[in-house]
Amino acid sequence: MLVLPVRRRILIVDPSSTNRRVLREMLRELGHQVIEAKSTTEALSLISRDAIDLALVDLLAPEVGGPALCRVLRSHAATHLVPIILITDAPDADKESIGIAAGADDFLVRPMRTRVLRARVQSVLRRKSVLDSMDEAEAVLFSLAQSVEARDPALGQHCQRLALLSSTLGVAMGLPAPDLVALHRGGYLHDIGKVAVPDSILFNPGRLSEEEWRVMKEHPVRGEQICSGMKSLKSVLPIVRHHHERWDGSGYPDGLRREEIPLLARVLQIADIFDGLTRERPYKPAYTSEYSLQIIQEETATGWRDPLVVEAFSDIFPLFSSDDLLSRSSLQALALSLQEQNGWCVEDGRQDASRIQHAPVSEAM
Ligand SMILES: [Fe+2]
Repeated sequence: MLVLPVRRRILIVDPSSTNRRVLREMLRELGHQVIEAKSTTEALSLISRDAIDLALVDLLAPEVGGPALCRVLRSHAATHLVPIILITDAPDADKESIGIAAGADDFLVRPMRTRVLRARVQSVLRRKSVLDSMDEAEAVLFSLAQSVEARDPALGQHCQRLALLSSTLGVAMGLPAPDLVALHRGGYLHDIGKVAVPDSILFNPGRLSEEEWRVMKEHPVRGEQICSGMKSLKSVLPIVRHHHERWDGSGYPDGLRREEIPLLARVLQIADIFDGLTRERPYKPAYTSEYSLQIIQEETATGWRDPLVVEAFSDIFPLFSSDDLLSRSSLQALALSLQEQNGWCVEDGRQDASRIQHAPVSEAM
């Protein structure tokens, strides 16, 4: 499991001292600071004194309840980006949807397995780290990108995986640290333009009509427009605009060919396609890692992909051939070596300040 380098502050909100103690014990190994509240009122009092990085909230927390506490945290500028995981004693789809609608990031059911809880906690803390490394406007954009992902449960943690996959591929290709940061951020932002695509098109399991496909193909340009107002995202713009170009010029939006396509867009594209192929989508099953690589190699032979990027990907492919990519120990080792060599942190994309239907199934629209 990737270990976050920074000690984070986690708040447990639960009326049961037993539940709080169990959670505290399960989290102990992660090394974060854990504070406790018996009620929502006590929780708000603690939060008003010191900022927190994550709230683990019992669904039935006394006084206002878990979903209401979510809404309160989401409505205040100081807490609206704090991740919230709701916890309950029994699975209940209605309660889960109410909690998610109220702003919760995740939902867990007791009894929880320690590994699962730790993985979920680390996952949301990584996202929080990304947000913390940005200014407020950037953070809002990343939240917007997350909301695109949240519209489609089948995507899971696609953005997070893609940030890790593409920056790791960048390491293998020997790209400099600023490019790795751009790839990491591009992983989150590349499809932000899909906020402008209606659900009826985004979740259409069949072939898109010509008009629907025209709307879908606008998402890279829309995404570039959304991010273009931010100077700090300048290096990410080519990734957002050009991640659907093809090596032979048959892609979109600009039909660029070969090296005309920005290198970082070519790198992220391979990671994006691989992740799309290995996951179930409305229009296709999940393919095995091996078969997914084979498809990418066939598309390279067809002329669609950059052969050198695909070659680099093929070389490090075993790193990516895991269902549990985000907890791969080999990726952890890579992340740590990257951190040491470049003063750069894979988990949150920050650099040490001192060092400053008509598309193939492979293209995850
Ligand atoms: Fe896309």
